[in-house]
Amino acid sequence: MRTRAPETYEEKLARLHELRHEALHAGSDQAVEKQHAKGKYTARERVQKLLDPGSFQELDTFVRHRTYDFGMQKSRPWGDAVITGHGTIEGRRVCVFSQDFTVFGGSLGEVMAEKIYKVMDLAAKIGCPLIGLNDSGGARIQEGVVSLGAYGNVFVRNVNCSGVIPQISLIMGPCAGGAVYSPAITDFVFMVKETSHMFITGPEVVKTVTGEEPSFEELGGAISHSTKSGVAHFASEDEDACLQDTRYLLSFLPQNNLECPPRVQPTDDPLRQDPELDHVVPDSPNKPYDMRVAIRPVVDDGEFFEVHENYARNVVCGFARLDGRAVGVVGNQPAQLAGVLDIDSSVKAARFVRTCDAFNVPLITFCDVPGFLPGTTQEWGGIIRHGAKLLYAYTEATVPKITIITRKAYGGAYDVMASKHLLADFNFAWPTAEVAVMGPEAAVNVIYRRDLASSPTPEARREKLIHDYKAHFANPYAAAERGYIDDVIAPHETRPKVITALETLQTKRAPGPKRKHGNIPL
Ligand code: HXC
Repeated sequence: MRTRAPETYEEKLARLHELRHEALHAGSDQAVEKQHAKGKYTARERVQKLLDPGSFQELDTFVRHRTYDFGMQKSRPWGDAVITGHGTIEGRRVCVFSQDFTVFGGSLGEVMAEKIYKVMDLAAKIGCPLIGLNDSGGARIQEGVVSLGAYGNVFVRNVNCSGVIPQISLIMGPCAGGAVYSPAITDFVFMVKETSHMFITGPEVVKTVTGEEPSFEELGGAISHSTKSGVAHFASEDEDACLQDTRYLLSFLPQNNLECPPRVQPTDDPLRQDPELDHVVPDSPNKPYDMRVAIRPVVDDGEFFEVHENYARNVVCGFARLDGRAVGVVGNQPAQLAGVLDIDSSVKAARFVRTCDAFNVPLITFCDVPGFLPGTTQEWGGIIRHGAKLLYAYTEATVPKITIITRKAYGGAYDVMASKHLLADFNFAWPTAEVAVMGPEAAVNVIYRRDLASSPTPEARREKLIHDYKAHFANPYAAAERGYIDDVIAPHETRPKVITALETLQTKRAPGPKRKHGNIPL
């Protein structure tokens, strides 16, 4: 117990060290032990592991809450329940806040929120990414409505920073109630398997209201949100993997919307031609193949960092590099549902396209799409509205847009997948491409129905008509004839072709119309 105020310089310095020590140990030893026992790092350990060694500059170490209700005045730890500041990742500045579950369960009250606002405002002011590490019991119950208002103020900042600086949320523990909406607004959400949870209401409330009895993990765990809801873009095996993947993700993003992503020193030959690509598309048009087998040989060193890897797997989205430049890759996935576009895949790809466009990441699209998924589930679920999101996102995107049709490009989905008509800059097709209103079998059934009905040998006639249709439409040349395809290229030529196209588009300017904002069909 301190008896008198420090007087000499040495005493004052000692006092500073003492206070810093107290701030470093704001959570009790038992709370830290409990945190570690759950397989979780403390807020401070996470920051240290996320940032470059020694780069963290803490802010507001000596902020303390000023709540007197419910006996709160008896415990006023330095720094309250969040650690905030800035540091570097691979030498590039980022701002961070890391909620400290060992102090009041990481719950958010007035001063904790003030610390978060300050670091968010700093990130917006200097134009650097903001990384939020969430591990919190939610609104601080002792502070009542003040903490609800505080969340609202965080949301406003998330919205205002949207499309200006990259915002990344790491869910490292509980995240419940309205608190989930701050991460939901951010560009990327990481979750950690088994130890992080997000939900509007917990299992107890769910049981009372709906009678369902899901576990925490089923209701709001990393697997559920990265496979079923799409709320989480990444589900990490553990916190170390989560923190490393966050660092890697940032390498593809610029500091803010006024910059381009950093170009890295290329380690792969831009003229490299991969003969493997000539064997990717199977001879039979109905045989599946993995689109990632077409993407990897094209991009630098075969490195493709998937986003939403396990959600709506009939489309693949992710980051890669071409001659050292970051690109966003979207591809239909013939290995899942034949690569058809449905509600979830349209929304997944639309979100990714908009994220890339907001942060000046060029888009490379690999198209093999048989169309939109038919049926009442899709129609009643609003495939028209959701499919339109992807169309809208591609059209609106002003970053360089390069498309490669590997096989099918049928119907409305042909238009939607970054066709020339949606203002793509360079559209290439492999000789295996089929650009048509629909597949040969379906087309023949529609336009020759009467002919087939009256034919004495309908099967032979059908074969002949399908053959004729294929000769006419199931190739890239009808589209190339009209300039909808800029060039038909051998698959092995794709990498050098796309790199040259990307190089050519470095000076692209595409100003949009003057308006408050568009009205994407949400
Ligand atoms: C104040 C809280 C708290 C909260 C936890 N604590 N949540 N203090 N406000 N919201 C405290 C606990 O009292 C405890 O303090 C310490 O944090 C650790 O909590 P435990 O319960 O011991 O931890 P654990 O067993 O791991 O359980 C974690 C938990 C549980 C599942 C998160 O604490 C819980 O259910 N908390 C309440 C969650 C909640 O309903 N929050 C409000 C959501 S609504 P001691 O002193 O004992 O160590 C909301 C609205 C936001 O957030 C709206 C935005 C618009």
